Amino acid sequence: MTIDYQEKIPNNVNLSEDRRLRRALENWLPGYQRWWHELGPAESDTMDVYLRTAISVESGGWANYGHVRMPDYRWGIFLAHPEADRRISFGMHKGDPAWQEVPGEYRSELRRLIVTQGDTEPASVEQQRLLGATCPSLYDLRNLFQVNVEEGRHLWAMVYLLHGFFGRDGREEADAMLERHSGDPDKPRILNAFNEKTPDWLSFFMFTYFTDRDGKYQLASLAESGFDPLSRTCRFMLTEEAHHMFVGESGLRRIIQRACQIMAEHKTEEVRKFGAIDLPTIQKYMNFHFSASVDLFGQELSTNAANYYTMGLKGRFQETRIDDDHRLGEALYPVSEIKGDAIVMGEAPALTAVNERLRDDYAVDCQRGVDKWNRTIRDAGIDFELKIPHRAFNRKVGAFATIRTTPEGRILTEAEWDRTHGAWLPSPEDEAYVQSLMEKVTEPGKMANWIAAPAKGIDGQTLDFEYVRFN
Ligand SMILES: [Fe+2]
Ligand SMILES: [Fe+2]
Repeated sequence: MTIDYQEKIPNNVNLSEDRRLRRALENWLPGYQRWWHELGPAESDTMDVYLRTAISVESGGWANYGHVRMPDYRWGIFLAHPEADRRISFGMHKGDPAWQEVPGEYRSELRRLIVTQGDTEPASVEQQRLLGATCPSLYDLRNLFQVNVEEGRHLWAMVYLLHGFFGRDGREEADAMLERHSGDPDKPRILNAFNEKTPDWLSFFMFTYFTDRDGKYQLASLAESGFDPLSRTCRFMLTEEAHHMFVGESGLRRIIQRACQIMAEHKTEEVRKFGAIDLPTIQKYMNFHFSASVDLFGQELSTNAANYYTMGLKGRFQETRIDDDHRLGEALYPVSEIKGDAIVMGEAPALTAVNERLRDDYAVDCQRGVDKWNRTIRDAGIDFELKIPHRAFNRKVGAFATIRTTPEGRILTEAEWDRTHGAWLPSPEDEAYVQSLMEKVTEPGKMANWIAAPAKGIDGQTLDFEYVRFN
């Protein structure tokens, strides 16, 4: 089915036949547009951006490219196709037909899950609001805006579920999505990493690599949900999420590549003299963003997570591919814990450890890109290795929030931490240096000095293509 772009809200959920829902969403639309104008990408209203827009959920159909004025972007509601006779694959309802309506007894838990996921989507748009003013190229500016419009669409996806299935409380929650704001002291976003600043492009690429990847893992476990509309919504969102992580992985690779070029060319490690970002600074940013992102998975042992699992609301990553009973009555799972002055591997009931398992899956996935970056460094003949920090490092959530450790996971006293952490996390001087590099480059094909050109353009276009037109 192709989506009708003549409709105010493009969709494949039959909105034209559901007048109540259509009216609810049309009432929500002006507030959304106001929010986009006030807190979305700054000063972007007059630009034409080469964006991909979903016009159907078929492979090939969801990636249509063309120049679009962003305020005219059509944020639609798209669900992956239903799977015939889909069954719940885990928990106490395993084997039952997937729910097409919200089960009354799980209403508040489901709403909580949807609101928490939904809140992150506009939050990241707010965090990235000012980055357009310092884009390193038109190519990058376009990618930023692509990520932004899709996060906006992800908000639409969650708001559709709230309006469509949760009645009056759903409407109130949908309104609240536009009332909480990233970093707002009175009404902050729900999760901490989404209240941090994204002040420069190094942070942006780190965010899309590490924090959007948390999004991937949350969406993947919600895609297993017994509540079928949530599952189908998340399955379609995952296709878009992949691009966000690509932006992060390739952006960081290009920064690393540029640092390596300058090191080789000038035979020095002091690349700052030549306006590049040195590898130790990249490592510090990585330490920060990895630790903030693993916090998003929550407590290592969580009765909430266990309940969501047993109820069939939120599964594990690729649940159906795991070879076990999918109920986790007796099973154990390895969980690291603090014993005396060391961190050791213990064991906990697998059911209460589902967050930790998801964090493990996430960390393995994070390592893949890091391996590629290290190959770039090795290929340049440079002896340096980027390392993902130990999961206990710099944590604010979970068992390790009570201790201080080195990036290798050795426990430190508070005094030792005070003396040493400047070497592991971005210092105010590092941040000021990175900020000093940020300048707007908009000549087609040109790149800021601190970042290498990408390997290829978007959608088969050349690198000097006019990805963004300023009117
Ligand atoms: Fe998203
Ligand atoms: Fe994303």
